Amino acid sequence: MAEPPENPLQRPLADGIVPEEVVARTENRWVIIMGTMLAVMMAVIVVTGVAGALHPSSNVEVIDPLTLHLGGEFAESNLGTAIEPDGSATVRLIGEQYDFVPHCVRVPANTPVKFRLTSADVVHGFLLPDTNVNTMVVPGFVAEVRTSFSGPGDYVMPCHEFCGLGHHAMWTRVSVLPKDQFAARGPLERTRCAKQ
Ligand code: CUA
Repeated sequence: MAEPPENPLQRPLADGIVPEEVVARTENRWVIIMGTMLAVMMAVIVVTGVAGALHPSSNVEVIDPLTLHLGGEFAESNLGTAIEPDGSATVRLIGEQYDFVPHCVRVPANTPVKFRLTSADVVHGFLLPDTNVNTMVVPGFVAEVRTSFSGPGDYVMPCHEFCGLGHHAMWTRVSVLPKDQFAARGPLERTRCAKQ
């Protein structure tokens, strides 16, 4: 029987010890897998940001949540949909426990729409499924999201940020009308829809 080599590094490994080459190969594979996952996630962010306009709102605007109702942009008479001189629409909404005000808004299709939201109390969330509209509504800040609807339809909009015991019942409706039908409505009907 051959003597074991003098150098301990050259002796056969005991049972259950994984050789260094096998460890290195496994680690390299995992590095490649993790690198690929990171690359895919970065690509998803870039593609949805560039192609789908899906990104966090970049404007930082502060507002005093205690005086929203007393005047300024989010006074009650300014809420809902307003048509700007350039033909685009601006929708102003307040999120509060546990409803959005107005509860339902109408917007024209095929028109640039800017949503401006703020909260009167705690953090809420505003999401229109299958569009790029998805933002948190944080007290003290104005969230702004721009979009355009390619056709008429109804979006039932759940609050998607847990905001208290009534969170599950907090929602609003965005009703997209064909441009001509929207224009034919009276001023108040254009601004908001009746409570559903
Ligand atoms: Cu508001 Cu959840």
